[in-house]
Amino acid sequence: MSKLWGGRFTKPTNQLVEEYTASILFDKELAEEDIQGSLAHVKMLGRSGIIPEADAAVIAEGLTKVLAKIKAGELAFSVGDEDIHMNIEKALIAEIGPVGGKLHTGRSRNDQVATDMHLYLRKRTVEIAGLLHKLQEALLAQAEANLDTILPGYTHLQRAQPILLAHHLLAYVSMLERDIGRFRDSYKRVNVLPLGAGALAGTTFPIDRHFVAEQLGFDGVYENSLDAVSDRDFIVEFLANSSLVMAHLSRLCEELVLWSSTEFGFIELDDAFCTGSSIMPQKKNPDVPELVRGKTGRVYGHLIGLLTVLKALPLAYNKDMQEDKEGMFDTVRTLEGALQLFAPMIATMKVRTERMRQAVNRDFSNATDIADYLVTKGLPFRQAHEVIGRLVLYGIEHDKFLLDLTLAEFREFSELFDENIFEVLQPEHVVNARNVYGGTARTQVEAALGRARQNAAATAEWMAGFDR
Ligand code: ARG
Repeated sequence: MSKLWGGRFTKPTNQLVEEYTASILFDKELAEEDIQGSLAHVKMLGRSGIIPEADAAVIAEGLTKVLAKIKAGELAFSVGDEDIHMNIEKALIAEIGPVGGKLHTGRSRNDQVATDMHLYLRKRTVEIAGLLHKLQEALLAQAEANLDTILPGYTHLQRAQPILLAHHLLAYVSMLERDIGRFRDSYKRVNVLPLGAGALAGTTFPIDRHFVAEQLGFDGVYENSLDAVSDRDFIVEFLANSSLVMAHLSRLCEELVLWSSTEFGFIELDDAFCTGSSIMPQKKNPDVPELVRGKTGRVYGHLIGLLTVLKALPLAYNKDMQEDKEGMFDTVRTLEGALQLFAPMIATMKVRTERMRQAVNRDFSNATDIADYLVTKGLPFRQAHEVIGRLVLYGIEHDKFLLDLTLAEFREFSELFDENIFEVLQPEHVVNARNVYGGTARTQVEAALGRARQNAAATAEWMAGFDR
């Protein structure tokens, strides 16, 4: 069979052009969505009397058969048929004869491909929210188990103030909560039907767009036909949301890599999530976090790539837009792959509580609290800062931490010190003193954990609303 659009041509397509313009090698991933959309479309055609009901039924049956063949790997796609839409239409006609040619009535590949991608990303959006939720659960479990684990908190990667490990992990739970929020929000825009826009201006047939939308579970239809076929914002949003997830994961990756080094020794990743060296027998490498950190770049690349494709495109459809797919598929694979590994990797991660504790005992991260102590005794903060600065310098010069000093030594720097300074110095005291909403005090962190669990339950409830 020749090209579906061959009528006005006098020559076959140049072989290289055929290969260069075809998208079947990657858009075959949309086969299921394409058939899902066609089934709703043909049902509407029959119901609206645009084609006989009997023909619609035959076409629907044929489409189901074609889908079964695709799933069984029995359909050979051809580059000569350009894309998934024409490959499926050809297969349909081969299956049921010329009546299959009625399927494309009142429709264009332009609104068809847009519909396929809305269906595809709608599904992925829910899937990814689910994976983010699973990772949150793993982090929450580790946070719960580490409500009493103290480690140094850092700024500039220099010891700053001690914090609870639970507090540190909950920071990531918060980031992921925003990520889930972004996917949930963009769901509203992905769940709109473009079909019915035709090539660009609508169609002469009395179609029922709202019926098709309802059949496919869309919340509404595109308002403007030109916008419907040329909008790729929903893909940009998806890539932007994914980029931020990767940014968050890569920050956590960096910490996992650092923390599992001998120098830190704060955690140990499970053997099942690490790899060895072909030459150095002692090595256990954190390949998974390294690779996720590395793959962040390709997701950012896909975002910038698509934004650049769309820049200055005139209305409505342009072939440039075929370039929207590969980056989108790769992003889904990259993101889902990372999230699938991350949850069990976090769940099985061993926390080396004693190493964290040692670190906190051997640093000056309680210095702020001693300055605050002098402030409570009436000294202006700026002066207190100066006094403790000199005290720290004294400690460095005498190879002592603040925990090692005697009251006499403290008093050399200020008469305001008395016995209770030794309690104020203790890491637990330092942590619990930060008793503000969002702070690292144990009671605050426990409350935050409770709120995070409530948010997670709300996500679970949102997801339960989808059984597609
Ligand atoms: N393969 C095309 C794409 O992915 C489908 C739409 C083609 N439309 C057209 N008028 N050539 O964008």
